[in-house]
Amino acid sequence: MFIGIDLGTSAVKLLLMDNQGRILGTCSREYPLYFPQSGWSEQNPEDWVKESLQGIRDLSALAKDEDMTIDGIGVGGQMHGLVILDEQDQVIRPAILWNDGRTQKETDYLNQEIGRERLVEDTGNIAFAGFTAPKLLWLYNNEPESFARIRKIMLPKDYLVYRLTGAHVTDYSDASGMLLLDVAHKCWSKDMLEICHITEDMMPSLKESFEVVGCVKEEIKESLGLSGTMKVVAGAGDNAAAAIGTGAVGSGRCNLSLGTSGTIFITADSYKKGDGSSLHSFANADGKYHLMGCMLSAASCNKWWMDTILNDKDYNANQAEIKELGLNHVFFQPYLMGERSPHNDPAARAMFIGMSMDTTRADMTQAVLEGVSFGLRDSFENAKNMGIDIKSASICGGGAKSPLWRKIVANVLGIPIRTVQNDEGPSLGGAILAAVGCGVYASLEEACEKIVKDKEVTEPDPVLVERYNERYQQFRKLYPMTKAFFA
Ligand code: XUL
Repeated sequence: MFIGIDLGTSAVKLLLMDNQGRILGTCSREYPLYFPQSGWSEQNPEDWVKESLQGIRDLSALAKDEDMTIDGIGVGGQMHGLVILDEQDQVIRPAILWNDGRTQKETDYLNQEIGRERLVEDTGNIAFAGFTAPKLLWLYNNEPESFARIRKIMLPKDYLVYRLTGAHVTDYSDASGMLLLDVAHKCWSKDMLEICHITEDMMPSLKESFEVVGCVKEEIKESLGLSGTMKVVAGAGDNAAAAIGTGAVGSGRCNLSLGTSGTIFITADSYKKGDGSSLHSFANADGKYHLMGCMLSAASCNKWWMDTILNDKDYNANQAEIKELGLNHVFFQPYLMGERSPHNDPAARAMFIGMSMDTTRADMTQAVLEGVSFGLRDSFENAKNMGIDIKSASICGGGAKSPLWRKIVANVLGIPIRTVQNDEGPSLGGAILAAVGCGVYASLEEACEKIVKDKEVTEPDPVLVERYNERYQQFRKLYPMTKAFFA
């Protein structure tokens, strides 16, 4: 049996899968997210470890009930976060996360003074505030004592793997988001390490996502009351893991994710140099490559609107009041944490525009769902401009559970949207990686073909597509018009 772990931003989600790909159990354990200043975002790595271990304990008990053992673990994790360890392997400061916007100055320095061309040459990508390299520069400039103590640099899921196995490793998909990896050649970029004042011995060693990197340490197994050999694979960034979990493997496939972040993930056989736009050019968990656009707030916009503003837990009832699609006069710009794709602007902020005396609460809820969908369309348009023709997509993440939101996305993008029977996304991807690493399946393609089953397809409706085309043309004018207000 295999455990897949999705080390997310609001919670860690774990899943237990047997050798035939059947899901025998899942669990989710939350941990706090800290916003020490507006636009900053941090977490305590010890919380990730504590809650993940408890989750492993709970799922192992389920496996024991079936008289089975856990053979392998695979982790998909929130990307780009900076975890730093000192000489004693102690975490030096809280992790700075993917949606943290404190590095505007360092991002500008990289893009403007080091220069976009050199960055794209070195890494395949330009700098974005959430990437790991600008965070290292921020530490160098703002917390020199912490910076001087750095001996190991890690991404969130790699810290969990390190605590489980003692191996200091990362995989290519997650490493791509550090802006320290030469994505085309799959090695650390010496130039970028130097620019960030770090040395290669601080960096984890690089592996393919399905490679076994070690086994769960004896003392951890003892503390969890477990026995047997539990192999751990390198794992993947959560979006690459989600693509596996929805069966979006092979060339030219697309997966959308409506989680805390909103992403559009497009697989490719060969490396495609980033065009300097908002699309990231990263390695994929299948040994190949992908392009990705990432919005910093997606389902989290709806969560903020429902939980914080409306104080209403009944998401379904609230959405049931939405009657007519494509004619809403209210717009919502979904930039609650600034925005990565397409604007690369940590200072951007969210906004409702266009209310009148007849505006209802339902119009505003609808505007939130539509605003996030329009944000995804921005990256979709960038992909089209690169000559990529996306004919359909799978979808996962908490927001994708809403049939209405899926319908809006299908019509805003004008493509069919497919859901899968086990919609766990990254944790299923993690379990599949572990099963491939342990030799149960010969390849990810074979594993996905056998394990991932389609559930439902939402087709676009030509009338709504037309209406949303018009609305989108208005939406895309809003950011350039309001940008200066928050600069
Ligand atoms: C991707 C990104 C987010 C996080 C969310 O580039 O930053 O999707 O991985 O966990």
